Amino acid sequence: MSARPHLAKAPHISVDTHQQSSLHGFDSKDLQQLEHQLPASLRLQIQGYTKRGRVRGWALAPTSAIQLAYLVWRLKPRQILEFGSGTSTLALALTARFLEREGHSCHILSLDQEWKYADRTRFRLTEANLAPYADVIHIPLQSQEAFGQSIFSYGIDAKQLRQYLQAPVDFAFIDGPASAPLLGRPGSRLGILPLCMNVAATSMHFVLDDSKRSKEQSILKMWSSLQGVEVLEHSKLDRGMSLGLYTAPSANPVD
Ligand SMILES: C[S@@+](CC[C@H](N)C(=O)[O-])C[C@H]1O[C@@H](n2cnc3c(N)ncnc32)[C@H](O)[C@@H]1O
Repeated sequence: MSARPHLAKAPHISVDTHQQSSLHGFDSKDLQQLEHQLPASLRLQIQGYTKRGRVRGWALAPTSAIQLAYLVWRLKPRQILEFGSGTSTLALALTARFLEREGHSCHILSLDQEWKYADRTRFRLTEANLAPYADVIHIPLQSQEAFGQSIFSYGIDAKQLRQYLQAPVDFAFIDGPASAPLLGRPGSRLGILPLCMNVAATSMHFVLDDSKRSKEQSILKMWSSLQGVEVLEHSKLDRGMSLGLYTAPSANPVD
């Protein structure tokens, strides 16, 4: 059966310059509906990987991995920037390899605050023959400010980040820094979208994980106040994921 996405909803997301459609299913409570929109071979690879029993606790849940893969497969970004490496990096890299077979090139840069977890993700990528699709770099957290608040976030600025990127960022997955009190303060993800905006392509989708948490909800509210930022859809599966879009001012049509 064809894996064409269901386009029943009113169009409101620009998928590419030729096609307008909603990402129907991302915000669905019915995972089966979403699963059947993703090509079966990619879905089985991701499910096979995420259900192997070694992904627990902090890792992206299998259902969320399917949702993330679905978005990437639909949006076909060229450069993904991820915050918080792990299972999600594997899901993204599996999708990038799938897209490559469809003739589309996609690279992932993943930041991790802990050397141990960055190294573990690199090992898992190599083991799965996915190393060419993703670079994982260890960037320790440091104290900084965002929206007038003091936070702990990745100690890297846009200029340094550009050195690791192969292209401007058109998709960001935000699952870090970890917000456990000893690792990063709650609210530590607040500075991530402003950082992404400084390395973004003319349009960049972003996904914030754990968005059922009240902290993430207030982060989304603050991000919505930024010029060019729109929060588009929310998924309530697992710990919740929210999808947004940033459009650079120069890409906005002149009134
Ligand atoms: C929410 S986790 C990121 C999870 C990742 N996206 C995944 O799907 O596996 C954020 C950060 O927590 C750290 N971390 C991962 N597993 C951990 C664990 N079991 N205990 C403490 N910190 C952990 C890593 O440094 C990671 O970058």
